[in-house]
Amino acid sequence: MLKVDYDVNTRPDKYSVLIDGSIEGSFDALICYVRGRKVLVLTDKGASDAALSDIVKLLSGANAEFFVHTLKGGESVKSFEALQAIISELIEHSFTRSDLIINLGGGVVGDLGGFAASVYMRGIDHINIPTTLLSMIDSAMGGKTGIDHCGIKNIVGAFHQPKFVLCAVNYLNSLPERELLSGFGEALKYYCISASTVILSCLLQRSVTPELIEECCIIKRDHVEADVLDGGKRRILNLGHTYGHAFEAASGFSLTHGEAVALGLIAELRLGERLGITEIGTSDAALDIVSKLGLKSDCSPYAESAEEYLKHDKKNASGSIEFAFIRRFGEPFLKRVPIDAAADLLHSLK
Ligand SMILES: NC(=O)c1ccc[n+]([C@@H]2O[C@H](COP(=O)([O-])OP(=O)(O)OC[C@H]3O[C@@H](n4cnc5c(N)ncnc54)[C@H](O)[C@@H]3O)[C@@H](O)[C@H]2O)c1
Repeated sequence: MLKVDYDVNTRPDKYSVLIDGSIEGSFDALICYVRGRKVLVLTDKGASDAALSDIVKLLSGANAEFFVHTLKGGESVKSFEALQAIISELIEHSFTRSDLIINLGGGVVGDLGGFAASVYMRGIDHINIPTTLLSMIDSAMGGKTGIDHCGIKNIVGAFHQPKFVLCAVNYLNSLPERELLSGFGEALKYYCISASTVILSCLLQRSVTPELIEECCIIKRDHVEADVLDGGKRRILNLGHTYGHAFEAASGFSLTHGEAVALGLIAELRLGERLGITEIGTSDAALDIVSKLGLKSDCSPYAESAEEYLKHDKKNASGSIEFAFIRRFGEPFLKRVPIDAAADLLHSLK
């Protein structure tokens, strides 16, 4: 098994992302972070049992004082209520600024736990041990944390970089097919912005390899390092997410994040073609990959209600909204589009 270890430099923070077959070879690295600290392990009911038992074994072996906080899981957990419960537990066990949260789960656990870490005592450390494909290739790294409110995704949040990210690929063995596909939806975004042949061949073969995770993480690392606080280049990573977030919310979160992103990608590529800035045929080529993967490809059930959510998008200002587009695969750029033109595309999908 290929073991990959690289740094993410988000001045002043710098941290390692380790991709390995299992966690065992990385016990020593993890022990350095937990020694002498109280640890709150945040996980959810659906996350890998194997992962939790590995962490409990590691923490017990290191004589660390630790507590496990288990969430019910699902997008609805990214809430003030769940945040409060975590903060209360940290207070109950007298966590100090030198203690630690380990987020063990998918993007939901990582976003919520990272946000709790960012606000508790104005910021404590956290480590991400992602257990879904989507969180390994995307959400565990980069420091975007947050919760949803009033049905709007990530409307409350903070930038708070993890101290360490460990992707143990064996945890994906228990991942349900639908969640695996959801990860491929996010991987398709990385293909669109990079034209990476490694990613394309994994998508076409529906195969998850450490190289797929590494390739996506390296692309993300490059965008994050160039623009930690999301003021420019990093926004390229929003490709598929402007419509995607609106579709996800419009579905009442019955779509997974990756399913919504795949639909968002098709819609945004169509918008680019309509505006004459994306090569004609690009959206059909993406649609072909989506169909081969077995991801949902019909945006129409969500198009009408998505319009309202589009207006609440954080990138919406003065009647226009910033989208990431591609000229063709591997050539991304940013452009503002009048909100009416963005809404018109949704009308054409109905
Ligand atoms: N912070 C970021 O940069 C960023 C980037 C992309 C997405 N996100 C967020 O990530 C979230 C989606 O993350 P996700 O797709 O990982 O969903 P998720 O966290 O909801 O996990 C999906 C499901 O898989 C289960 N699960 C987790 N690990 C498992 C395993 N190893 N075996 C079996 N089941 C397992 C979970 O219990 C859950 O039911 C969304 O809230 C999205 O907004 C954040």
